Amino acid sequence: MKIIGLDHIAVAVKDLESSLAFWQRLFGLKASPIEVLAERGVRVVRLEPDRGAALELVSPLREDSPVSNFLREKGEGIHHFCLEVRDLEAAMDELRATGADFLQEKPQPGAEGSLIAFLHPRCCGGVLVELREVKKKEAVRPNGSGR
Ligand code: CO
Repeated sequence: MKIIGLDHIAVAVKDLESSLAFWQRLFGLKASPIEVLAERGVRVVRLEPDRGAALELVSPLREDSPVSNFLREKGEGIHHFCLEVRDLEAAMDELRATGADFLQEKPQPGAEGSLIAFLHPRCCGGVLVELREVKKKEAVRPNGSGR
């Protein structure tokens, strides 16, 4: 399996706008537009340094979102880290062959037209790990479908 690198570290927050303002002020990082990922019940925003992994802020859209449960149980803090892979389906097959489980059956749409899947924390020493396949720019159609 080809791991390209650490894509982001995500922090669960209650109030996305005020947390975004806080982290931007603290480090002076550029932010992406806020994205709503309705299926996952979250809103996300990325703060990008010039080099290396991004900081992702994630907040719940609904009371029944997994991030709502996390915030209730653990409060605000580091929620997951994300590794970029070249081919998500191939990576999922390869990891499943070693006995690993995913929270999703198939790759799901993630931020910026990417495909994502989360490994179950019980396969990763209690840590929630996201895998992400970034869609190549030329593969993204102008209508924004990203497929
Ligand atoms: Co993430």
